[in-house]
Amino acid sequence: MTQRQSKAKSIEFHDNSCFKIWRASDMLEDSRMQVEFTNEYAVLRLARDSKSKHICPIEGICIGAGHVALRLRAYHRDLRHYLLESRDAADLPHILSKVVSGVQELHDLGFVHRDLKPDNIVLSEDSKSVALIDFNRALPVQDQSEYEDLGTPGYQPDSRHWKDTDFNWDYWALGAIILESDMRPNDYYQVASEKDAKKVASKHLAHPQTSKCIKKIVKDTVLANADAFKADSADLLI
Ligand SMILES: Nc1ncnc2c1ncn2[C@@H]1O[C@H](COP(=O)(O)OP(=O)(O)OP(=O)(O)O)[C@@H](O)[C@H]1O
Ligand SMILES: [Mg+2]
Repeated sequence: MTQRQSKAKSIEFHDNSCFKIWRASDMLEDSRMQVEFTNEYAVLRLARDSKSKHICPIEGICIGAGHVALRLRAYHRDLRHYLLESRDAADLPHILSKVVSGVQELHDLGFVHRDLKPDNIVLSEDSKSVALIDFNRALPVQDQSEYEDLGTPGYQPDSRHWKDTDFNWDYWALGAIILESDMRPNDYYQVASEKDAKKVASKHLAHPQTSKCIKKIVKDTVLANADAFKADSADLLI
């Protein structure tokens, strides 16, 4: 069994499954963790019932004396590791189009992910199976909520005109992930704000080798302003 984290939540791999484990004591004390667990479980159940292809399949739920664990299909690595260690330019469009489909499936279930980033996308060893994970920040789509600083800098817009419970929040992150996948390993890593992301994106778009398709997606997402946002351009990858 291998373990990846040592905080309130941890990930363990066992018997070809991945266990996302929540400590019961933390859940009892922290109402926010209860909400996060409930949302993650709700998304995974809905995705299973609707036979989603690109949302990580839940295989069960395990309740022990001191913890509760979600049993998930184990994938080989996340997209962050793929981009750093195993990147293959010929495979990337297929991988990214499956990520776009996964986001579409999640939105069709009525949820916004709110923390899309390469670490929250997993791949099989041959990279043919691709799935979204980590739904504990997901929320049902709604209009009321304003920007909340909950996601990951570099993968969320930070101007106050964006709503974090709107599908556009995820499309912005999707644009950042597609941009990062088209850049050299580590070149996006230092990006920690919307302003940085826009600077890096403009530079990448000025490069003669950047394709028209990437230019359109990045212009319509990372470089767009909230009021001029066009969510449909990531469909170019499908
Ligand atoms: N089903 C899975 N298959 C393979 N690896 C996984 C799987 N689920 C999680 N992982 C790995 O464990 C890491 C952490 O999992 P996850 O993102 O669900 O939790 P978390 O990041 O601790 O949650 P949060 O960011 O909300 O604190 C992922 O980035 C990924 O590397
Ligand atoms: Mg995560």
